[in-house]
Amino acid sequence: MAMMRSLIAGCGGYLPERCVPNAALAAEFGIETSDEWIVERTGIRQRHIAAPGETASAMGSAAARQALERAGIEVSAVDAIIVATATPDSAFPATAVRIQQQLGITRGFAFDIAAACTGFVYALSVADAMIRTGQARCALVIGTEVFSRILDWTDRGTCVLFGDGAGAVVVTAGEGEGKSTDRGILSTHLHSDGRHGDILLVDGGAGSTGGTGLLRMAGKEVFRHAVSKLAAVVDEALAANGLGHGDIRWLVPHQANLRIIEAMGRKLNLPRERVVVTVGQHANTSAASIPLALADAAGRGMIERGDLVALEAIGGGLTWGAALVRF
Ligand code: UT7
Repeated sequence: MAMMRSLIAGCGGYLPERCVPNAALAAEFGIETSDEWIVERTGIRQRHIAAPGETASAMGSAAARQALERAGIEVSAVDAIIVATATPDSAFPATAVRIQQQLGITRGFAFDIAAACTGFVYALSVADAMIRTGQARCALVIGTEVFSRILDWTDRGTCVLFGDGAGAVVVTAGEGEGKSTDRGILSTHLHSDGRHGDILLVDGGAGSTGGTGLLRMAGKEVFRHAVSKLAAVVDEALAANGLGHGDIRWLVPHQANLRIIEAMGRKLNLPRERVVVTVGQHANTSAASIPLALADAAGRGMIERGDLVALEAIGGGLTWGAALVRF
């Protein structure tokens, strides 16, 4: 039976010009750390840091322009913009509306989603639902973050882990047969558990009665949840579509830590070359990490039409989720 499917028509990314290698963090920022520690514990070698005045909306607009260009879709076709960010330009207007304005779009609607590092998977899930129900026909789904502005640069346990950047995908309405061989988003699976809200949070900010407005993380605690929850949600997605580990062509995971990414590859029985890894170059860019990795892989011509791609992420909330997409 014919049914609506949301197709990923193009992926784009943007990284700020300034690239800071691990060694420079120790020297320039006066942080007691070493390239060796960071590489060994996280796989991170460098991160990009936004210029003064460079905002989540500006970076998101740049990523969106590249995604539209690669999709061969005119900006005038866009009727929905959904932005995942934990570092919006301001509490309101939504960063998505700023991007709408920067792209010169005056129709449709635009709004933000707050699900920390899982934000892109949440945003993709919402876009898919809106496209399938006919509320939108061409959506920009964007993850954009300036985490450098919410880091405690005196806390070496967190400040070495994150970077700035943006990624975007264009999602368009298409048709399928309701089978796992269809092109498009096959399904999305979202979870949250607020009991663990304090192990990864921004302490303060708009509307709070105190705090510093900076990121705090109990890294070991988050790590403990990561692999088991991520493996379970990818298995949930595969089972929902009658698929197995062997059907995954590419795993595009949230890029927080190479150790987590490699453990996921092992859990899913995937050879190393089937796992897209950008954490070394980008560090953890939170909601931007999956679309940036997708844009990187697409730019290298790695993902081909018909490939089944599994996306997964976990982050503050705790929130976690997965999506299966056939390109
Ligand atoms: O994106 C959202 C999801 N986030 C994640 O998935 C992050 C999950 N967590 C992690 O990736 C890891 O827990 C971290 C990379 C954050 C930390 O790795 P770890 O192996 O758990 O290290 P640790 O925090 O237990 O620290 C080990 C040691 C400590 O020294 P002692 O107490 O053993 O003497 C730290 O003080 O390493 C020390 N340390 C550092 N040393 C040099 C912590 N940060 C640094 C640093 N440079 N930057």
